[in-house]
Amino acid sequence: MKNISNQNIIFKDKKVLLRVDLNVPMKNGSITELSRIKKIIPTIKMLIEKEAKIIILSHIGRPKGKIVKELSLEPISKKLSSILNKEVLFNKNLINDISNFDLNKIQRGCLLMLENIRFNQGEETNDIEFSKKLSSLGDIYINDAFSCSHRSHSSVAGITKHIPSYYGLQITQEIQALKKITSEIKKPVTLIIGGSKISTKINIINNLAKKFDNIIIVGGMANTMLKHTGLKIGRSICEDNCEPLVKEIISISKKFNCKITCPEDAIVSRSIEGDGKIKYVKDINDDEMILDIGPKTISTIKTIINDSNTVLWNGPAGYFENSNFQNGTKEISKIISQKTTEDKIFSVAGGGETVAAINKFKKLDSFTFVSTAGGAFLEYLEGKNLPGIKAINQNV
Ligand code: 3PG
Repeated sequence: MKNISNQNIIFKDKKVLLRVDLNVPMKNGSITELSRIKKIIPTIKMLIEKEAKIIILSHIGRPKGKIVKELSLEPISKKLSSILNKEVLFNKNLINDISNFDLNKIQRGCLLMLENIRFNQGEETNDIEFSKKLSSLGDIYINDAFSCSHRSHSSVAGITKHIPSYYGLQITQEIQALKKITSEIKKPVTLIIGGSKISTKINIINNLAKKFDNIIIVGGMANTMLKHTGLKIGRSICEDNCEPLVKEIISISKKFNCKITCPEDAIVSRSIEGDGKIKYVKDINDDEMILDIGPKTISTIKTIINDSNTVLWNGPAGYFENSNFQNGTKEISKIISQKTTEDKIFSVAGGGETVAAINKFKKLDSFTFVSTAGGAFLEYLEGKNLPGIKAINQNV
């Protein structure tokens, strides 16, 4: 991989355009979650050590080519500065208004953050002239934003046509972890997939069923599977008109010898605020809804994980925000983290809700890799060639 660890790349005194993802959650002007900032620190530290002049590029939110005051990166530059314990200069100008005078302020081993790249009109359209102008601000480009690499934008893709380009440390780690569950797999390999809509995950299931030994379907998606096998699921969340998708899953898994597992028991209640009751999925009343997986299903999942060498998890097993319905998700995170710690499995998890759940159960550090990427993570698992990754690989 074209990675910045390559000792032959000279960074000293070079202006390095570093694309990161600082699209962090904010509330009343304050950052509420720091993991995306923390993840870019190793790359920044390496560039400081190598005496580069670092120019940070990022977006936050979707301002669509307009200046939106609330979506300024300035507060994030201050947070980065406090984490690094080092000054981070900030420049509010649009890309076309940035002068050499602005850039010459950066000393070697120091940092300048540019304003939200999506304030510029050419960014999201991947405009050639804009990409050229952007590339002219630096000598070297680095993509360390895996979570933006599914976007064919100037600062992710177009820029690489005009400047030597490399992967940062964080994106390299992410791609290597994802390769180990998609192409360089140590079998048996198991996917645990949840979330509310089968239609948004069908491409992942169809792509991975070809290589995986087990797919365990949990969460709202499992309700849709159960309903289409003729079971009554009461008032549980479920997606309509999914018969063709369910048939597709069953047929592709048969063809590639991938075992599909759905819940056999569940925790049900009459309301999401109510208490839970264990029931077989064949016994659900009309006024009940499924809000978690039951103990027999948990035990089946544990057996499958015990027999696996690689496990990928995306999507909680139930409504884990309420402690009455968190047990399934908690037990899944516990068994994966235990097996990973014992060095028995290679484990990867990703997706906003899954990461929030693992965080809630304090298991973030005991997975082999946890991806903070949303759309990019899912598109990679669908087997797509992400524009940001393709762009670096094609850069010569
Ligand atoms: C994300 O949060 O997934 C990335 O920052 C990409 O953001 P986007 O969906 O607005 O392109």
